[in-house]
Amino acid sequence: MKLTIIGASGHGRVVADIACLCGYDGIEFLDDDENLKNCGPYPVAGPSSLAQEQDQDLFVAIGDAAVRRRMLERFSEKRIPVLIHPGAIVAKGAKIGRGSVVMAGAVVNPGAVIGRGCIINTGSSVDHDCLLGDYVHVAVGAHLCGSVTAGDEVWIGAGAVVSNNIRLCGGCRIGAGAVVVQDILESGTYIGVPARKKTVAASLRTPTAKTCGEFGGGYSSPGIKEAHAHTVSAQWNRRAA
Ligand SMILES: CC(C)(COP(=O)(O)OP(=O)(O)OC[C@H]1O[C@@H](n2cnc3c(N)ncnc32)[C@H](O)[C@@H]1OP(=O)(O)O)[C@@H](O)C(=O)NCCC(=O)NCCS
Repeated sequence: MKLTIIGASGHGRVVADIACLCGYDGIEFLDDDENLKNCGPYPVAGPSSLAQEQDQDLFVAIGDAAVRRRMLERFSEKRIPVLIHPGAIVAKGAKIGRGSVVMAGAVVNPGAVIGRGCIINTGSSVDHDCLLGDYVHVAVGAHLCGSVTAGDEVWIGAGAVVSNNIRLCGGCRIGAGAVVVQDILESGTYIGVPARKKTVAASLRTPTAKTCGEFGGGYSSPGIKEAHAHTVSAQWNRRAA
């Protein structure tokens, strides 16, 4: 099975490793940086535009949510897998949208619904009944307690904790190590314990950040519906059987 990965970065290498464990044996990268010829042991075959000409499976491994969204929206759903590391624990019945990756040691508990193009990073957890929109990133070691709701493009920094039943509006960012104990209804960056809004440099603001109270449209994402059918992790298939 062949897979093209767009984005020849460190994140891309992690995605390639997971894809390999999920049974892909022909992996190549595409990247718009023409100086890149390899990504780890894999070749960089050319710019991302080449993906349009191929028909093999495709994964977008780009950290920036807005860029990830733009890239993914160009391609047919059918080509986009869900990648789940065999060392992740995903509850039977949890739903995960296409183009999402669940990394090693992550836990996704029953009732969780994760949109398309999400990154559930190494050692993080998404607990029961959480609803995540599209293009959400739960960074390394971050934990979402039960029934957290997060809109599209929410970014939860490394080691952050979001308490149960909290709502995070689309596009908000939670800093590394923050503890969120109240709903976040206004886009921006939140840091500290308990998390408070921080003023950030203009260059770091998320251009697509949603306005106060919007929780994104990710929960009815078409990517979620057929996630099971296209999940390639052997572990997942065992659990789903
Ligand atoms: C929140 C964050 C985005 C802010 O970035 P920034 O705007 O560039 O912030 P700066 O580095 O300029 O720091 C500004 C101030 O905020 C403080 N600060 C930054 N991040 C902080 C955090 N997570 N918690 C507490 N304080 C923080 C800095 O110490 C600094 O304080 P000072 O003004 O008293 O010196 C960033 O620090 C962060 O947490 N990134 C998370 C990285 C991560 O989790 N990556 C995951 C990869 S998987």
